[in-house]
Amino acid sequence: MKKLMAANWKMFKTWDEAQTTAREIVEMAGAVLPEDRELLVLPPFTSLRGVSKQFKSIKGFSTGGQNFYCEEEGAFTGEISPRMLTDAGAAYGLTGHSERRHIMGESDTLIGRKTAYGVQSGLKIILCVGETDDEREKNQIEVVLKRQLDLGLEKISRKISPENISIAYEPVWAIGTGKVAGEAEIVAAHTFIRKTLISIFGNNGNKIRVLYGGSVKSSNCGKIIALDNVDGVLVGGASLHGESFSEIVLAKR
Ligand code: G3P
Repeated sequence: MKKLMAANWKMFKTWDEAQTTAREIVEMAGAVLPEDRELLVLPPFTSLRGVSKQFKSIKGFSTGGQNFYCEEEGAFTGEISPRMLTDAGAAYGLTGHSERRHIMGESDTLIGRKTAYGVQSGLKIILCVGETDDEREKNQIEVVLKRQLDLGLEKISRKISPENISIAYEPVWAIGTGKVAGEAEIVAAHTFIRKTLISIFGNNGNKIRVLYGGSVKSSNCGKIIALDNVDGVLVGGASLHGESFSEIVLAKR
């Protein structure tokens, strides 16, 4: 299974800024991306076409949308469809990010509908899951992960090709805080996620990538991707600069 090294640029970067960072990533990692890695950038929608164009001929590079709605088209002001993302060059789509859950108020049920619709529309979906600090304090990590996985994956076919869905474990308290989950915590959560995936998808659950996200940077990435059941990373802040994201992508285990 190739490691998926993903950049979530969130609501950062104008067109020019995104183009510059994409160019830096191509220059620094384009020719030297190891065979066992894939590089993904999720830019803001306004820059998606431009970044996709730069990545088009680079082996192992792809782009995706940070969000989408679960209809092909219609009167859904402010929304974007998987069809539009694909048209702009995206191969991936993100669902369930904690900022969508906690700031935009997306429910587990809506996230499940979006995940299923995205897959059905041909996007490779990364479903994000993770507990808040409060839930962690109350020892509810597994309860929360199980609920988010069960409802997030409820509507997708049990026969899905495993490369079309990935899970990103992003403990909310580790996002943008500089607090990385400890190695034992990451392994425990990823092992639990793996078991849950196997209970849902049978043996295919072993082939679904489980990424870690939360304050990943070049200095900790190598250790994180060497852990059991960690099949890549989803990076926010440290992915905003071409050099630091390239270092993450190329980090040695
Ligand atoms: O989706 C990536 C993310 O939420 C983690 O952000 O800034 O902690 O790497 P950051």
